[in-house]
Amino acid sequence: MPQDALIPLPSKMSFVEGAAIPIAGKTALESMRALNLKSGDTLFIAGASGAIGTLVIQLATAQGIIVIGSASQKNHSYMLSLGAQKAVDYSGPNWAQRLKQWIPEGVTAALAIQPGTVEDSMDLVKDGGTVITVSGDDHVKPKSDISVCQIQHHTDTKEALIRLISDISVGYIQLVIERIYPFQQALEALKKTETRHARGKSVVRV
Ligand SMILES: NC(=O)c1ccc[n+]([C@@H]2O[C@H](COP(=O)([O-])OP(=O)(O)OC[C@H]3O[C@@H](n4cnc5c(N)ncnc54)[C@H](OP(=O)(O)O)[C@@H]3O)[C@@H](O)[C@H]2O)c1
Repeated sequence: MPQDALIPLPSKMSFVEGAAIPIAGKTALESMRALNLKSGDTLFIAGASGAIGTLVIQLATAQGIIVIGSASQKNHSYMLSLGAQKAVDYSGPNWAQRLKQWIPEGVTAALAIQPGTVEDSMDLVKDGGTVITVSGDDHVKPKSDISVCQIQHHTDTKEALIRLISDISVGYIQLVIERIYPFQQALEALKKTETRHARGKSVVRV
């Protein structure tokens, strides 16, 4: 398929669902590519119940990767239902220490989705491991034995995105849309996104 060709929407998929996939979907796929994990590896996701985390939990667990997600308590059963093996509350006391007791050797890698989560993520990764960041955090001083990199964008991820759209259309991967806003409430949608507490994706219908 030429790189500039439009991706056809599967017949079972609504336009709203189709619109909700590309940005978060591509970011989730680029995250998985950068993490480069294999079955049995452990992955900590900082901010795992948002649009990107919702997809990464499912993509990773489908590959046999053991996922630990962070979000507030209200999202714990949600993350576990998507396949995460453990959920931690980033706002609770000593959450990182408790996680270290569970995996004393540290996790293989971490995905720091929320800005400001790289430092905590570095502490949870074992020596020689990787932290992949989605939102930057380049002011953080890296630890010498942990590599910290931002996701990269590749044009050939389009093929993987087409597979993801197909997997969502048949229900193999769950697409979660928190709310569909009418265009008149677009600013409300933006405000919700800016809270950084949306679950899954928000869509504005034009
Ligand atoms: N969505 C996209 O398509 C997209 C694409 C590219 C890049 N980005 C960027 O990626 C980042 C994340 O986007 P997103 O849409 O997946 O999620 P989001 O809506 O920004 O964040 C929601 C998630 O982050 C958790 N969270 C909030 N503050 C946190 C903290 N201090 N530590 C750990 N977790 C925290 C929330 O949990 P609780 O609600 O339970 O607190 C929830 O799990 C944003 O910076 C965004 O700009 C997003």
